[in-house]
Amino acid sequence: MFIINFKNYEEISGSRSIRLAEAASKAAKKYKTKIVVCPPNHLISEVVKLPVTVFSQHVDTAKIGSTTGFAVPELLKKSKVSGSLINHSEHRISPQEIEELVSRLKNLKMTSVVCVKDVSEAGRYAKLGPDYIAIEPPELIGSGKAVSKERPEVIADSVKAVKNAKNSTRLLCGAGIVSGDDVARALDLGAYGILVASGIVKAKNWKKTIEEFVLALTEN
Ligand code: G3P
Repeated sequence: MFIINFKNYEEISGSRSIRLAEAASKAAKKYKTKIVVCPPNHLISEVVKLPVTVFSQHVDTAKIGSTTGFAVPELLKKSKVSGSLINHSEHRISPQEIEELVSRLKNLKMTSVVCVKDVSEAGRYAKLGPDYIAIEPPELIGSGKAVSKERPEVIADSVKAVKNAKNSTRLLCGAGIVSGDDVARALDLGAYGILVASGIVKAKNWKKTIEEFVLALTEN
């Protein structure tokens, strides 16, 4: 599983989000793999027109109807968004909201990726049965220092914590991943896939970097 979180970087502003999504779409087709993109909400309507899987960066518990300024799962689904990050380190929400959103996305047949900051949260939220738990030590996010090299034990222990939930939840990892070698190490440690932002978004050559990551994912 390869998720590219565009975040709100200048590098993906305006039509550049379309170009990055196109690069991901072409790599997914070329290597017959799945790549998920998470553009900012205001650019989703453009990106979903491409042959690429789109997740939202965040969802709210606000109900469909007379609510204002929220990312409502039911409306995102109607806009061909097929999943969402939940509780990203840069947009954390309460345990109650996480529990509600995992269940709500499951009912909508949307993919849920619950982001966690440590092994304890990985174990706690895996019990809710999201599709994925994404472990991302906050201090490594955007650092260029890969979690798979700096904190390998966090990945290995999170794999165990997620397995202890005894359900179909799988572990992804992110934070500081900037090379194919970082990706390969994450898979060697038991991660099912990766969640990446700056390593792709800020790369000089999106096509080359995405392909480097895809090859590391598909060759391991
Ligand atoms: O959502 C993934 C993100 O938090 C990881 O950030 O820039 O270290 O790949 P980055």
